[in-house]
Amino acid sequence: MATIRNPFYYGGVAEETYFCNRSNEIQILKKDIKNGLNILIYEPRRFGKTSLVIRALKEINNRYIFIDLMGITDEIEFINAYFNAISASLETTAEKTVRYFKNVLKIRPNINVTFDMNGSPSYSLSFARSEKENVLEEIMNIPYEYAKHRKEKPIVVFDEFQEISKLNLEEKLRSKIQLHGNKISYIFLGSKKSIMKKMFFDKNSAFYKSVKHLPIAEISFSEWSLFIKKGFKNNDKKIDDEFLEVILSISKGFPYYTQQIAYELFNSCDSNSAVDSIIMKQTLHSILDREEDLFLQEWESLSLNQRKALKLIIIAKGDNLYEKKTMDQFNLTNSTLKKAVEGLINKDVIDKGNKRYYLQDPMFEYYIYKRFI
Ligand SMILES: Nc1ncnc2c1ncn2[C@@H]1O[C@H](COP(=O)(O)OP(=O)(O)O)[C@@H](O)[C@H]1O
Ligand SMILES: [Mg+2]
Repeated sequence: MATIRNPFYYGGVAEETYFCNRSNEIQILKKDIKNGLNILIYEPRRFGKTSLVIRALKEINNRYIFIDLMGITDEIEFINAYFNAISASLETTAEKTVRYFKNVLKIRPNINVTFDMNGSPSYSLSFARSEKENVLEEIMNIPYEYAKHRKEKPIVVFDEFQEISKLNLEEKLRSKIQLHGNKISYIFLGSKKSIMKKMFFDKNSAFYKSVKHLPIAEISFSEWSLFIKKGFKNNDKKIDDEFLEVILSISKGFPYYTQQIAYELFNSCDSNSAVDSIIMKQTLHSILDREEDLFLQEWESLSLNQRKALKLIIIAKGDNLYEKKTMDQFNLTNSTLKKAVEGLINKDVIDKGNKRYYLQDPMFEYYIYKRFI
């Protein structure tokens, strides 16, 4: 029996048929990139930032340099990772790359090339520690030099950019980037709103007012409904509206969890049959089971008042938190609640939108509700 490919996907970058909508954001991104703007996107982890940007870049069919800063622990690692990302994007073969950089770079670091099992090259630079600043400067300038000589503007994506704040590189990067004007579009993606806002909106910060901020919305319920229904139908399975509503009321349209639930439901549903309430229940149960370690860890990292505040926010549906009756229920006062709410915002656990507070992670909310309320 041929196994059916699951039409849903979660974990990495969502591409091709796994990608749902976001057409507004794609249009805006494409226009801004063409105009050479620098763009800032901060949304929670797993919200679809990377997928969106990769999609837009593929559509405009422009050369891009992509570097993920998660996991980079110092300046030298940054230099090597950036150099690698540049090499992967600008030149085709290892020989060409080395030759090209020998021509471009004024400094003379040794360029070491190794190949992985698939034959893809990976580069590292050897240089004296005393040369570090010069090397960083030159590496930062490669995309700009490239743009000048080739009449082609590469786009640079810094993913998980909040990590740069730990490396003490903000000033150095900014001083280079600001010289590149509209020759290079930089796209800064970040998963920690609290840090990203400080980096880009605080008057004294290195990147103050250097970008256009693009907010991204959840994917709408109607788009998701079409997407999920089609995935089932194309594969001779069925999902009724009532279960779509269950999925979306839990995921709230948050991309990762919507796909996760749909994927697991699809797996548990036999061919030529429909999702039923038993499958729905078991699927949600197993998802919570699997995420439990992570959620517990997050819960335990909160103070007792912050935990109370979270429960209160969930029960009050994010509105009128400071009503006396609700606060009394949790033994919180105006000032203890206020402090807890501020703490939760600083930890990027909650946020405020449309006058309501909400948990950034809808599955964490569902977990707390199921387990502790
Ligand atoms: N436009 C989209 N359509 C469908 N699913 C998406 C979309 N964007 C993201 N996802 C889902 O969310 C997951 C995380 O997306 P990702 O782009 O890695 O998020 P982020 O970069 O914000 O952490 C993907 O694996 C996929 O399941
Ligand atoms: Mg990402």
